[in-house]
Amino acid sequence: MDSFDIHPVNLIKALSMALELAVHGMSSHHWRTALVCDRIAKNIRLNAVEHQRLVYTALLHDIGAASSWSERKKIIANEQTNDQGMYRHAEDGYLLLKDSVQLGDLAEPIRYHHDRWAGGNYSGLRGEQIPLISRIVHIADRIEILIHNNEFIFDQSKRILTVIEKESGIEFDPSLVTAVKELTKKESFWLDLVNPNYYEVFFKSLDVYGSIRYSLDDAINIAEIFATIIDRMSSFTATHSRSVAKIAAFLAEIKGFSADEVKNMKIAGLLHDLGKLAIPNEILEKPGKLNNGEVVIIRQHTYYTYRILEQIDNFDTIAKWAAYHHETLDGQGYPFRIKEESIPLGSKIVAVADIFVALTENRPYRENLSEIKVKSIIFKMAENGKIDKSIVNDLFEHYHEALEIMLDLKAIAI
Ligand SMILES: [Fe+2]
Ligand SMILES: [Fe+2]
Ligand SMILES: [Fe+2]
Repeated sequence: MDSFDIHPVNLIKALSMALELAVHGMSSHHWRTALVCDRIAKNIRLNAVEHQRLVYTALLHDIGAASSWSERKKIIANEQTNDQGMYRHAEDGYLLLKDSVQLGDLAEPIRYHHDRWAGGNYSGLRGEQIPLISRIVHIADRIEILIHNNEFIFDQSKRILTVIEKESGIEFDPSLVTAVKELTKKESFWLDLVNPNYYEVFFKSLDVYGSIRYSLDDAINIAEIFATIIDRMSSFTATHSRSVAKIAAFLAEIKGFSADEVKNMKIAGLLHDLGKLAIPNEILEKPGKLNNGEVVIIRQHTYYTYRILEQIDNFDTIAKWAAYHHETLDGQGYPFRIKEESIPLGSKIVAVADIFVALTENRPYRENLSEIKVKSIIFKMAENGKIDKSIVNDLFEHYHEALEIMLDLKAIAI
């Protein structure tokens, strides 16, 4: 695992799937918006560097809304307006990415991706003052939103174009409307958009862009951004993913994992709850007991963590370490119900780290627990054949160091 080297598009397109998670399945808003952007870029002959930046921006453009279901609903229901709602998630996306070494150059275009050509924007920008990439994402985003999934694409292409043309010079850059009118003459444009099997080929075609490759440290930095998004879903989990990452890395070191394996463990810890983006905030924040329907929804999260992470090159191990954290040694866990011998040691470590961190955090239905209580719960789980005894022993032997790691992180969060 030492030659970690992946193309940015490989990681970004997979993580953009996390922005599509919903209670019942997934949508493909970001992928489709990226495809429309790519077609516009080709039509206007955008240079290769900006073309690449455009596609990455499109793949993450609504990242600022991912933690909040009410924000996401606003985007779907209210895409036509330019009120505070649209401004909020664009600004939050900017704030999330602006200091990132890897994704920082997507921050500005994301910030203005709902700005209207004619002005009247929070930013004060209008016309060509709005970055070109933002203008392209804006029009591509609207085209995507206007597609109805249960209607034949050629029965709606006219309607979509009429809406776009009507907004030329008002909402959208007129030269981009011209480009859209031209490129949408091709039947293949519409057919590609609604053909899920085409996307693999599309993303492969983007491999040609740029020579930058992500290292393991780059992947950790990007995982940290997603950890922030996941942890923001509930005030009770402000540092949960980071804590699990640190504790899991700590336990992995005790078990003698190599330096690169410990880095992989950090990524697994940061992203172990990635699939939680499929759970409405109200369920995560609910005080008291969850009903059966809510439990089913919550339990989907590790499935999605796995299916998203397994798509990333060199992430086979990370996907397992991250997503098997609710599997138990006796095969009664979820969602794969695998048994002890099929669960890698790294996954067993994340499971113990997750339980330890959860028990020492506050929860909507209880305050954090005393040391004796935490230890007795964990000990019982090991005795009952749910979690690995040797990892629990490691944790108990270094209990106060582990607690200190947790406290340090809480201090940073405050
Ligand atoms: Fe948006
Ligand atoms: Fe969008
Ligand atoms: Fe979990």
